[in-house]
Amino acid sequence: MARTRRPLIAGNWKMNGLKADAIALAKGVADAVKQAGWTDREVLVCPPATLVSAIADAARGTGLLVGGQDCHAKPSGAHTGEIAAEMLRDAGASHVIVGHSERRTDCGETDAIVRAKAEAAWRAGLLPIVCIGETLAEREAGKTLAVLETQLEGSVPAGATAATLVVAYEPVWAIGTGKTPTTPEVAAAHAHIRKVLTGLVADAAGVRLLYGGSVKGSNAAELLAAGDVDGALVGGASLKADEFLAIAKAA
Ligand code: 13P
Repeated sequence: MARTRRPLIAGNWKMNGLKADAIALAKGVADAVKQAGWTDREVLVCPPATLVSAIADAARGTGLLVGGQDCHAKPSGAHTGEIAAEMLRDAGASHVIVGHSERRTDCGETDAIVRAKAEAAWRAGLLPIVCIGETLAEREAGKTLAVLETQLEGSVPAGATAATLVVAYEPVWAIGTGKTPTTPEVAAAHAHIRKVLTGLVADAAGVRLLYGGSVKGSNAAELLAAGDVDGALVGGASLKADEFLAIAKAA
């Protein structure tokens, strides 16, 4: 049976990248994506907002997709320092990450704020990647699945479909630590996410679920093979073209 959920390998550069090196990195990835000509997977990079336009220019015509790392819920207005989804779209983005755990922690983003940002992404014609994940304390207390359920119910807007939603499961304790859940733990979390989505999204079976947290070239094949994993959201390893491409190849 043909695979219906096309894997998405997304790089979240976080607050890294100055123009010259960032464009060189994007060009390295874009050239390889163009050469590979993949139709069975998608590759996305999410640079800092200052670089979205330049990276979108570098990626044009190669098949490499470009996204933002966050957006404001409003389309414009008196919100100093913020960036609207419409601005990301105008700069050449097609996707935007919302609700990353670093923003939930650093900026106090609640599920309601994340949901409003996902709706803003739709309004601007962007595909939101909604991030959820438990802390180490929550995992150790046996609350992982309950936390994921609460976050999904609060963060996924009504009316989401497989075409308008990507969910990324990123255990907070696995981000930037070199630690990952076991493959059965990833599969269990993703199975639960899909089950919860069934009550929220009409075609939940088609929603892509990414795993994120210490994904690298050497563990990508195993993590991507876990049940219900349809791609990866990659932090540190997306800052090196070879390492990121190794993950894309493993998809
Ligand atoms: P690392 O891959 O560096 O663990 O980061 C994961 C992440 O937060 C991607 O959004």
